[in-house]
Amino acid sequence: MNKILVKKQLSADVYEMVLSAPLIAHSRKAGQFLIVQLGEFGERIPLTIADVDESAGAVTIVFQAVGETTMRLALKNAGDSLDNVLGPLGNPTHIEQFGAVVCVGGGIGSAPLFPIIQAMKRAGNRVSAVIGARTKGLIVFEERIRRTADEAIFVTDDGSYGRKALVTEPLKELCSQIPKPDMIVAIGPPVMMKFCVVTAREFGVPIMVSLNTIMIDGTGMCGSCRVGVGGETKFVCVDGPEFDGYKVDFDNMMQRMRTFKDREDEARHNCRLELGLSVETS
Ligand code: FAD
Ligand code: FES
Ligand code: MG
Repeated sequence: MNKILVKKQLSADVYEMVLSAPLIAHSRKAGQFLIVQLGEFGERIPLTIADVDESAGAVTIVFQAVGETTMRLALKNAGDSLDNVLGPLGNPTHIEQFGAVVCVGGGIGSAPLFPIIQAMKRAGNRVSAVIGARTKGLIVFEERIRRTADEAIFVTDDGSYGRKALVTEPLKELCSQIPKPDMIVAIGPPVMMKFCVVTAREFGVPIMVSLNTIMIDGTGMCGSCRVGVGGETKFVCVDGPEFDGYKVDFDNMMQRMRTFKDREDEARHNCRLELGLSVETS
């Protein structure tokens, strides 16, 4: 059981939770994630460790309530406990002194990006952060990112904050500079990462992407997170979650992520009814 120490609502459906998890707090590295389970028979969902307070033995998760499990998680409060928190899982981000690094975060992806920005800075890199969201309310960790990166560029699809643009626009400008960046790291919706790769390729800049495939066990046994990388099948939970963006088959990954869409829609609908929330009609 892991106690929730702090719960904050960051926007309409985005939450930050600080969990007591001393062993995880001491051993985690940038880029690693947890598998969280609510109830003995609850679904297992992966969430990235967005921050850590080693002295308090605490880790932070930031999540968007998009479906049944994240909606139920959002109902938990400080003082409650989570039944099962497994981690740290996945390989840490490859950190070295590359030189100039551009870290691109889309939507909730800017929270998991934060420890990578910190680690890249600590390794002596000059870090430019490009943070994008559909709208202002979905930008998270702004203050932490501004404080840590050398430069932070914010964009929104609707122009409600920062520039009205997609992340690929400032990314393209940064890649056009001389000297061009030495490395790009991108975390966000698959379609955003796919187009960051297209931009990176145009300029010949290497790019690492952190994949968010469906995961169940998180330990390499169920195969649900498999993805094509350079013509080989990889398991995101144990071989990733980060891969060379040039090699990832994003189209197949996006198709696989829709496998359970009907059941997820039904579960979300029933959950909203049960919780007395308004339901979407289609
Ligand atoms: P559902 O309605 O069940 O699903 C909504 C969508 O989420 C699905 O269409 C599918 O694309 C995805 N999804 C569903 N089940 C899973 C699953 N078991 N594993 C992965 N994706 C699933 N989200 C955050 O908000 N914050 C994070 O820090 C974060 N980190 C992640 C790290 C990794 C390594 C991965 C793989 C995913 C991460 N996600 C994160 C995504 C998060 O796991 C999903 O949003 C969550 O599982 C949705 O569950 P649900 O029941 O609420 O929604
Ligand atoms: Fe089961 Fe990766 S989540 S093999
Ligand atoms: Mg679900």
